[in-house]
Amino acid sequence: MRGEAVETLRVIITREQVASKVAEIAAAITADFAGEAVVLIGVLKGATIFLADLARAIQLDASFDFMAVSSYRNGTQHSGEVKLIKDVDGSLEGRNVILVEDILDSGLTLTYIQNLLLARRPKCVKIAALLDKPSRRIKMITADYTGFVIGDEFVVGYGLDFAERYRNLPDICILEADSDGR
Ligand code: IMP
Ligand code: MG
Repeated sequence: MRGEAVETLRVIITREQVASKVAEIAAAITADFAGEAVVLIGVLKGATIFLADLARAIQLDASFDFMAVSSYRNGTQHSGEVKLIKDVDGSLEGRNVILVEDILDSGLTLTYIQNLLLARRPKCVKIAALLDKPSRRIKMITADYTGFVIGDEFVVGYGLDFAERYRNLPDICILEADSDGR
C-alpha cells in the first residue's frame, strides 16, 4: 500500500460526552424559554443529528424547520460567499427562534443566516452551536448555547462530514490524512 493516503479517525469527543452536553444545553433552553414555544431551525445537513437529539431533550412546545445554504470554499478556506439554497417553510414573526448549527467556524454562515432571520421580525433569534472554533473566526459572532470549544482542527461525525462521509459516526473525531510513505 506504499504511497497511498490513509485517513485516520481519532476520537476527541465521545458519544457519552456529546449526550451529556446536549442534555445540558436542552436544560438551559428549557429554563430560558419556560412557558413559551420555540422553533428550532436546523442548518442542513450537519445540524440534523444535533437537532434530533436536542429537540427530544427540550421540554417545551417546540417545532422544527430547516434551512440550507451553500458556502463556497477553496479547500477548507471560506471564500466569504454564502447563498441560500432552501428557506424555512413557515412564518417566524413573533416567534422564539433557535438556530441550531453543528459548528461555528469562520462565522460567515451563521452571520448570514442570523441577518436573514432577523429580517422576518421574530421575537428573538438565539444560536445553539454544538462546536465552536473561535480561532477561525472572521465575523464576530458568538453562540448563545455552545457545546464544546475546539482548536483549529477538522472534525467529522455526529452530523459533520468530509465530502459527505462520516456524518453517521456517533463520536466526534479528528480526521487526519496520513501518508504511509513516511
Ligand atoms: P463557517 O461559515 O465558516 O462558520 O462554516 C460553518 C460550516 O462549515 C459548518 O456548518 C460546517 O458545515 C463547515 N465546517 C466548518 N468546520 C468544519 C469541520 O471541522 N468539519 C466539518 N465541517 C466543518
Ligand atoms: Mg453545516
